[in-house]
Amino acid sequence: MKAIIYTRYGSTDVLKLEEIPKPTPGDNEVLVKVYAASANAADWHMMRGKPFLIRLMVGGLLKPKNKILGADIAGRVETVGRNVKQFQPGDEVFGDISECGWGAFAEYVCASEDAVILKPDNLTFEEAAAVPIAAISALQGLRDKRQIKPGDKVLINGASGGVGTFAIQIAKSFGAEVTGVCSTKKLQLVRSIGADQVIDYTQEDFTQNGQLYDLIFDAAAYRSISDYKRSLSPKGMYLLVGGSMTRIIQVVLNKSKKIDNLVVKSNKKDLVFMKGLLESGQVAPVVDRIYPLNRVAEALRYLEERHVQGKVVIKVEQ
Ligand SMILES: NC(=O)c1ccc[n+]([C@@H]2O[C@H](COP(=O)([O-])OP(=O)(O)OC[C@H]3O[C@@H](n4cnc5c(N)ncnc54)[C@H](OP(=O)(O)O)[C@@H]3O)[C@@H](O)[C@H]2O)c1
Repeated sequence: MKAIIYTRYGSTDVLKLEEIPKPTPGDNEVLVKVYAASANAADWHMMRGKPFLIRLMVGGLLKPKNKILGADIAGRVETVGRNVKQFQPGDEVFGDISECGWGAFAEYVCASEDAVILKPDNLTFEEAAAVPIAAISALQGLRDKRQIKPGDKVLINGASGGVGTFAIQIAKSFGAEVTGVCSTKKLQLVRSIGADQVIDYTQEDFTQNGQLYDLIFDAAAYRSISDYKRSLSPKGMYLLVGGSMTRIIQVVLNKSKKIDNLVVKSNKKDLVFMKGLLESGQVAPVVDRIYPLNRVAEALRYLEERHVQGKVVIKVEQ
């Protein structure tokens, strides 16, 4: 099968398209023919081995442990291991395979049967692949870290990116009053997916406009914590999802009831919950660009610029 392999950390030059043996599923695994995968910031962090902590957490200290990147998949079950109960060949599935060795940027991948669920019929493979990590990050941040409720004033910073576009829609589905912060070119998109208010960060600093929020969900944290605190309601919470390393360290060192950070942990229950929102039409993936498998390097270069509009998807030609 064809796969994008990397054997050392570095720029996108380390990514090579190679022909390698097709994997064989273990007893509790399914072999999935990958139709589409999506790229996440974690992919380019793991490609570079930066920040260094990522090598200790998943990557391998001196060289990558998993030689194929990619966690979000959508595809068709080709064969199943002998203990697999939930799937049969031909099933259309999607999920996050980061807990089973990564490897989405390939024609086939083996995944634990608990990592995938049946794909919603109303989504294409490309749309389904865009969902798992970004949507579950948004869900766990909004529902589990803060338990948002109808009427809560929620601000999503980084509203136009992979996580942000899901966060806007999920927050709306919980009945929150949502403000999205993005750059000028993305205002229309953020409005179109449901934001009640939009703030163009190139024109206005939301920490200076006197508005108070019950939750600041920050997928683009580049300001100091004291700036954010100024914009919180008395019971408000600041949740750091992503941003600069300096900010992440600052938040981790200053954790409290009002200041917290997210570490997403995908699980089947949350993916099933997301499937419900997708099937009911309350949430729809925003797909920015679709690249073929042999152009994963280009896709990650684009994502690394941190100005995507929704998700970047890899389509695996059949
Ligand atoms: N904690 C976790 O478990 C977890 C899980 C998933 C992701 N993350 C992290 O969350 C972050 C966002 O992920 P993602 O997948 O959404 O990334 P992404 O798709 O690359 O989106 C980044 C977004 O940030 C926006 N942005 C850039 N500079 C900004 C600024 N100064 N102010 C406001 N927005 C700005 C960009 O919008 P404009 O083009 O409009 O500037 C872009 O849409 C990443 O750092 C990622 O590593 C963390």
